[in-house]
Amino acid sequence: MGTVKVRVPGTSANMGPGFDSLGLALSIYNYIEATETDGGLTIEILDAETKEFLPTDEKNLVYKSMKYLFDKVGYQPKGLKLTLKSEVPVTRGLGSSSACIVGGLMCANELSKAKLSKRQIMEMATAIEGHSDNVCAACVGGFTVSVYNKEEIFYYSHKIEGDLKFLVLIPDYAVTTQKARNTLPGYYPRREVAFNISHASLMVASMVSGNYENLLCAIDDKVHEPYRKVFIDGYQKIYNKLKAYGALGTYISGSGPTLVSVVEADDAEFFLEDISEYMKKTHPTWTLKLLDVDNEGVKIIK
Ligand code: HSE
Repeated sequence: MGTVKVRVPGTSANMGPGFDSLGLALSIYNYIEATETDGGLTIEILDAETKEFLPTDEKNLVYKSMKYLFDKVGYQPKGLKLTLKSEVPVTRGLGSSSACIVGGLMCANELSKAKLSKRQIMEMATAIEGHSDNVCAACVGGFTVSVYNKEEIFYYSHKIEGDLKFLVLIPDYAVTTQKARNTLPGYYPRREVAFNISHASLMVASMVSGNYENLLCAIDDKVHEPYRKVFIDGYQKIYNKLKAYGALGTYISGSGPTLVSVVEADDAEFFLEDISEYMKKTHPTWTLKLLDVDNEGVKIIK
């Protein structure tokens, strides 16, 4: 009977025009410790804030993901004790569900000694989550492009070194992914499809080449942001301020309501000071965090 502890990053999906494909792993983490026991299921959640959102029985997503892998590989632990510590806020658009799924699968992979590769973990995680953007970034870190096609995943991960910082602006209210997806149209006019293809392509080229001056244009989106910004209190005013203070670009993180501004590392502290002053006056309950890219993805720490 063993114990394993993993660290898994929060993630920011879409990055403007890359709906369900582009992702970014950030330096904000969930920690999962899983121990095999003689029987039963015990789940301890260490943070008061997460406690109210996450179940501590068989409905817990970390547990469900572990069971998914155990069933696939034919392993049956007698009992389990899970201890969860989450920095990633729940239902805010920072990949908390992907962190639970990827972290749970990783723990189960270790305990069962199944030796699945990260790609296999990623494919299982996508089958559970439904889209690959967050899970890909949570698995391998960096800036990621992924395509999920007939249960197979094709992806590319690019490490972002210290020249960029990401300011996340987290509202104090939740918007569920399901609600945010339900607001999207089923079909799009050709001009909007063409708009997103060109912008997503420019986004990938900018991030990979380091020509960040193109981000301001590349980051625009017509597939999801126009329909989701209504859920973000004061969206346009905050967006305009971020632009005026020098953001390279701002987008809705995943399905929202968190906003992410991309900034040059050298300007980041001043940028944070300016926008914090504004947000203190207009949205004092929001949380602002200046984050780096996590270039490692999920990892076993014990
Ligand atoms: N690509 C997803 C969406 C991310 O925008 O709905 C949220 O899980």
